[in-house]
Amino acid sequence: MAKELVHLAIIMDGNGRWAKSKGLPRTAGHLQGLKALKKVVQGCIDNGIRYLTVYCFSTENWKRPEAEVNYLMTLFTNKVYGEIRALNEMGVAIRLLGNREGLPPEALRNLDKAVDESAANDKLVLQLAINYGGYDEICRAVNALVAEGVTQVTPELIRSKFDNPDIPVVDFIVRSAGEVRLSNFLLFDSAYAELGFYDEYWPDWDETMIERIKKDYSSRVRRFGGLV
Ligand code: FPP
Repeated sequence: MAKELVHLAIIMDGNGRWAKSKGLPRTAGHLQGLKALKKVVQGCIDNGIRYLTVYCFSTENWKRPEAEVNYLMTLFTNKVYGEIRALNEMGVAIRLLGNREGLPPEALRNLDKAVDESAANDKLVLQLAINYGGYDEICRAVNALVAEGVTQVTPELIRSKFDNPDIPVVDFIVRSAGEVRLSNFLLFDSAYAELGFYDEYWPDWDETMIERIKKDYSSRVRRFGGLV
């Protein structure tokens, strides 16, 4: 079985705890988390990983205090397109994953511009999961099929209606900050993904974590339900 780590996905957890441990507001943790993401993107490029999906905001994160939600929306509005030159120089193509409904129009406008203006880049696809939920992804896909009159679904048909069906199925899902759960992330595509859990808070991650992750993945034996 192919063991190359092609598609890595990360649950970026621990921004709030990182900030608290330093006596800072939670928002400072998110800003530092964005800095960590830049280092991790470089680490993925350096280690030959072609697809990186990061969980930026879940369909459940709207329950957080309004000020924190607004801060995150401001980051999505300003920081991704704000980095477009650097992203193009690095060869990073941005893609969006998640429900567009409910996101601020200005955030969507700028994120869409980032997608369009980085589309030709071919070093790394950075898929940003924003207003993403696994239940929502599956329901939206099934509802799209129902609207077309489909009465019997298959896994392939469901996946064909996901936001980016051209992106290969995730190989390795990792989570920072010690919690051991998926939190509604990639429910469908995680069926045979390897899982990894790391204690470090997300804002403390850098390129070296990607080297560690690549090494950990190389020790996994993937059978996809068969025998080796
Ligand atoms: C989870 O940590 C983290 C989030 C809900 C936000 C993740 C977002 C970023 C890292 C910013 C990405 C920005 C762009 C522009 C792509 P938590 O707040 O739940 O941490 P805690 O469990 O310690 O409270």
